[in-house]
Amino acid sequence: MKLLGIETSCDETAAAVVEDGIKVLSNVIATSLDLHTHTGGVVPEVAAREHLRQISPVIDKALEQASCTWEDIEKIAVTTEPGLIASLLVGVNTAQTLAYIHQKPLIKVNHIVGHVYANFLERETPPQFPLLVLTVSGGHNELMLMRGHHDFITLGETLDDAAGEAFDKVARLLGLGYPGGPIISKLAQEGDPTAFKLPRPMLDGANRLNFSFSGLKSAVRREIELMPSLTDQLVKDMAASFQQAVIETLVDKLVLAARDHEVKEVHLAGGVSANSLFRELARKKLPDRLPLFWPVQNIFCTDNAAMIAGAAFFKE
Ligand code: KG4
Ligand code: ZN
Repeated sequence: MKLLGIETSCDETAAAVVEDGIKVLSNVIATSLDLHTHTGGVVPEVAAREHLRQISPVIDKALEQASCTWEDIEKIAVTTEPGLIASLLVGVNTAQTLAYIHQKPLIKVNHIVGHVYANFLERETPPQFPLLVLTVSGGHNELMLMRGHHDFITLGETLDDAAGEAFDKVARLLGLGYPGGPIISKLAQEGDPTAFKLPRPMLDGANRLNFSFSGLKSAVRREIELMPSLTDQLVKDMAASFQQAVIETLVDKLVLAARDHEVKEVHLAGGVSANSLFRELARKKLPDRLPLFWPVQNIFCTDNAAMIAGAAFFKE
């Protein structure tokens, strides 16, 4: 069964055709990233206008690349929440109109759930439940126990800034571009992760599996204010120290959750799952017996529509 997925929750206008929830026949992404680079973050009004401009050609291209006509598409899937409201509306209105014209069922997909299903795209073996999944992106940090398809229990979430957001804000403090994650992780390779003593936000009690990164971001700001000048080497050292603090915190909580729950697999999902230190440290600290997964291709880590079509296939 072939589904058309549509995703417009942030700054990517995306459409994809996916067969049986796994096989990606096309995955088209147009991004308005260049328009947001100089502002250090997404401007919602600018993003929504770009979605309007891009949505029709992106959908046409997704069908064409998958060698499909509307007759081949059985259902349409669209991200309905969470996200920037004006951006979401472009995708939802388009999907509703297409569903009406072509008489196809419309499936609503939650964006965070979409990120989880990105990990099953192009996978050779079916997922083994229960599994533990940590979705870390620009807007969300969700630690969830997945007991079956679309059957989630939230174990922890962010109390303030998500990890990706912290990467983006620290990049701005360091005078770097947007999005901050890939830039910081590249600079970190030439920096000393022990150069700055930054806090590891380890909340306890009821919050032991929740996340809080705004204090870490403020600590970085204080350190930068104390520097007489921000040399290239100091930027690299701060990038490495900050990345180490965020990733250690994420992994430590994942390990705690894996101790609390009998699971068969562990998954890293969302934009930050592209980070190689995250993958490396998670593999090192989790028990060897636990298989660890992240998206098969890096393009499935960040926002895309294939994950939305994948999630919808397993919904009903
Ligand atoms: O999932 P995503 O595309 O969008 C949201 O749903 O928010 O994630 C984007 C986030 C950005 O904050 C970006 O800085 C971060 O993922 N990111 C990374 C890396 N690649 C993207 N963070 C750390 N290391 C990376 N390699
Ligand atoms: Zn996302």
